[in-house]
Amino acid sequence: MHISVIGTGYVGLVTGACFAEFGVNVTCMDNDARRVEKLEKGEVPFFEPGITELVAKGIKEGRLSFTTDVVKAVDKALVIFIAVGTPPKSDGSADLSFVEEVGRGIATHMTGYKVIVTKSTVPVGTGERLREVIRKHQTKPINFDIVSNPEFLREGSAIEDFMRPNRVVLGADSDQAAAIMKDLYRPLYLLETPFVVTDVPTAEMIKYASNAFLAVKISFINEMATVCERVGADVQLVSKGMGLDHRIGGKFLHAGPGFGGSCFPKDLAALVQTGERVGYPFQIAGAAAKVNYEQHLRMVAKIREACGGLAGKTLGVLGLSFKPNTNDMREAPSLTILKELMKEGATVRAYDPVSMEEATKLIPGMIPCKETYDVAENADGLIIMTEWNQFRNLDFERLKQSMRQRLLLDLRNVYDSDRVTGHGFRHVSVGRPTREPRPA
Ligand code: UDX
Repeated sequence: MHISVIGTGYVGLVTGACFAEFGVNVTCMDNDARRVEKLEKGEVPFFEPGITELVAKGIKEGRLSFTTDVVKAVDKALVIFIAVGTPPKSDGSADLSFVEEVGRGIATHMTGYKVIVTKSTVPVGTGERLREVIRKHQTKPINFDIVSNPEFLREGSAIEDFMRPNRVVLGADSDQAAAIMKDLYRPLYLLETPFVVTDVPTAEMIKYASNAFLAVKISFINEMATVCERVGADVQLVSKGMGLDHRIGGKFLHAGPGFGGSCFPKDLAALVQTGERVGYPFQIAGAAAKVNYEQHLRMVAKIREACGGLAGKTLGVLGLSFKPNTNDMREAPSLTILKELMKEGATVRAYDPVSMEEATKLIPGMIPCKETYDVAENADGLIIMTEWNQFRNLDFERLKQSMRQRLLLDLRNVYDSDRVTGHGFRHVSVGRPTREPRPA
């Protein structure tokens, strides 16, 4: 089978490279000529474990190609995935102008039956809108089907998530389209991956429902963390105790500085906006977003309190991306937190294994450091902002030599208090009691 993927952003490129790995011929199209030129040489414009190797393999084996030409993308492909951006507009609703533009391009150039699939998260009703746009711009009536096949991959483990998904959701408007899509995902049959086949709007909603629910879980445990701190309970153990109930599940119950990334904040806003549009305010989605923003600010208050004020203090920050194994800074808690710390007069020294370039542009005034121990220079506190593996085994004796105060602000709860306090550090974490240093 020959397919094409329009849009070589995160979702598009992972989709293209993974289908090529499944043995399908894939043409990836993007109208950014520079990006396509680089991709043709195997240069991937973002950080994601394993993607560069997969792209190189696809190119070498002749199943993966790149183009700026929409005709090439439409011509041979039976299935066309649309994976272009749907950025939020000022009212929180998703901007569909790129999706519609692609729809017009497909309509003008199609010469035979196509299955046109939305892969990015798109608001309920986008499939219908796309159908109208394509019908309107066709030069002569040619049959096509619309499918919603939302992507659930996580940054940092995108390839694994694509190759071994928990489920594949297919919202199709005909049996023929559903059969073609199932055929495309045939390699997953071996893994007995469940397929959920629905109509188009239901599949579109499954994506929002899933992301909003995960975001609610995080905001729930973050509120729980604040209450735990006040009553002297330990949120880690509360999560464990709750999560063992199969109806709840232990995942996404890790308290921290709040969620970030390109999906949760945007999808919550879009869901709230959809609710408003249909006359039903989606209260829980709105609350999860509000709690999340306040969680960023609560971290500032926590740091301020632990340091006895922020003016004149130096803080070392480890990790800036919204989560480990990505250079993505979109909606990262570090953005709000670091800016607030500096606004209140703190000096911030920071290091991230892969997002330094981007972060330095986004957080003016931050002192960029070259490596982990560099941030600790004269620091009054060391903040773990993102739980990269390399920050999980810090050499506390080495840190002691350069820090002014022995204070670890463990915003991701990665450390066991006994270990930290045993090295003479005060251990402040999220939703767990603060522990004072133990005498040597
Ligand atoms: C998410 C969804 O998981 C994925 O299915 C969807 O396709 C896109 O959005 P992603 O944004 O890559 O994926 O990251 P994810 O691993 O879900 O983490 C999101 C944020 O929540 C991160 O900032 C992370 O640090 C935070 N998080 C996650 C917590 O604070 N606590 C948790 O227990 C889990």
